[in-house]
Amino acid sequence: MDIFTTMKERRSTRVYLDKPVTRKEVEQVFQLAGLAPSAMNLQPWEFVVTYGEEKDRLVRNLKKVQAERKVTCGPGTTKPLPEKFAGRSRKVLQLMEPGIAETGISYSQFIEQGGCSFYGAPIAIIVTMDQLFPEVRYLDVGLSVSYLLLAAHAMGLGTCPIGLIIPFADVIADTLDIQENKRILLAISMGHPDNESPVNKVKTNREELPEILSWHE
Ligand SMILES: Cc1cc2nc3c(=O)[nH]c(=O)nc-3n(C[C@H](O)[C@H](O)[C@H](O)COP(=O)(O)O)c2cc1C
Repeated sequence: MDIFTTMKERRSTRVYLDKPVTRKEVEQVFQLAGLAPSAMNLQPWEFVVTYGEEKDRLVRNLKKVQAERKVTCGPGTTKPLPEKFAGRSRKVLQLMEPGIAETGISYSQFIEQGGCSFYGAPIAIIVTMDQLFPEVRYLDVGLSVSYLLLAAHAMGLGTCPIGLIIPFADVIADTLDIQENKRILLAISMGHPDNESPVNKVKTNREELPEILSWHE
């Protein structure tokens, strides 16, 4: 698959087949993710891969604490945004709503869990960065995550970044024994996509160029 097709086709996968991903495939994804550029070639990204019983334990712990703390990690908990941005996030939820209804998960459950697609995915990836790096190094980690998502897609694997789980980063760290000096930035689900699932068929749109690009001549 050429790079342009990969970039145009990739979309977030939130429903997965019950089909394992081999260790070789996972390693290939991370080898490609590690090819991303970074300032001074620092490569500040670090990934924790969890699957099988350990992933199930993580899911159990997260569900328990979500119920106990009664804190939703849904988008309602984020700071109010200017309409320009709020409208974009409303639109993606509207696009997904009919598909979510068809999966049997209620819409409110989906929102409460922040669309935690790794609950049903064979693999959950936790993205971390050492606390010693300044926040600007998030950019480098983001580049590597982009490579990861595109590499996985080109290999026939689906992914979904999950930022809304970060309020429960302490539970992730405790369960997976992630050291205190690591900042947990993102979770990512990965697996073989269920291409029949209506949620996975949602294709989000993007703004036209004048919205994101200005010319100075
Ligand atoms: C940093 C980041 C965090 C995200 N967090 C979530 C999340 O918590 N739950 C979710 O369902 N999707 C999440 N997404 C996926 C976005 O909703 C998705 O990328 C966006 O709507 C565009 O759709 P597409 O990936 O299908 O092109 C996240 C994406 C990024 C890049």
